[in-house]
Amino acid sequence: MNDSYNRLFVKAISARKTAYAPYSGFKVGAALLCEDGTIYTGCNIECGSFSLTNCAERTAFFKALSEGKRSFKAIAIAGGHNDAETSEPCFPCGACRQVMAEFCSEDFTIVLSDRTLKLSELIPYSFKL
Ligand code: THU
Repeated sequence: MNDSYNRLFVKAISARKTAYAPYSGFKVGAALLCEDGTIYTGCNIECGSFSLTNCAERTAFFKALSEGKRSFKAIAIAGGHNDAETSEPCFPCGACRQVMAEFCSEDFTIVLSDRTLKLSELIPYSFKL
């Protein structure tokens, strides 16, 4: 993995610290790199009415989008049970993949603990309105 993706992954690990996950105990952090070099972080935020939970990736995207960002290069994702460090990759859920497909090109990069993937590998034939 190259240096800038390594640094992005470290920011995702750091973003995990503020996750609010009292129900699942699964904490996720994400760091989204915009084309202009800006980085937005996000964590998962759960709700007692479970379906209202927001994933770390979408938190990062919605923060960036609401600030007017529209071009994205890569997202790093770190997740695991509670505060335990883990080297297991945390793959983004289907809903987050669909949001990525809405705003990113097929060569958008997803940085995980042990590999990098392209969006086209994670969500081929994505829905487009
Ligand atoms: N979660 C994320 O934040 N990102 C994903 O891509 C998968 C799942 C969160 C949602 C929920 O708070 C917890 O992980 C367990 O599903």
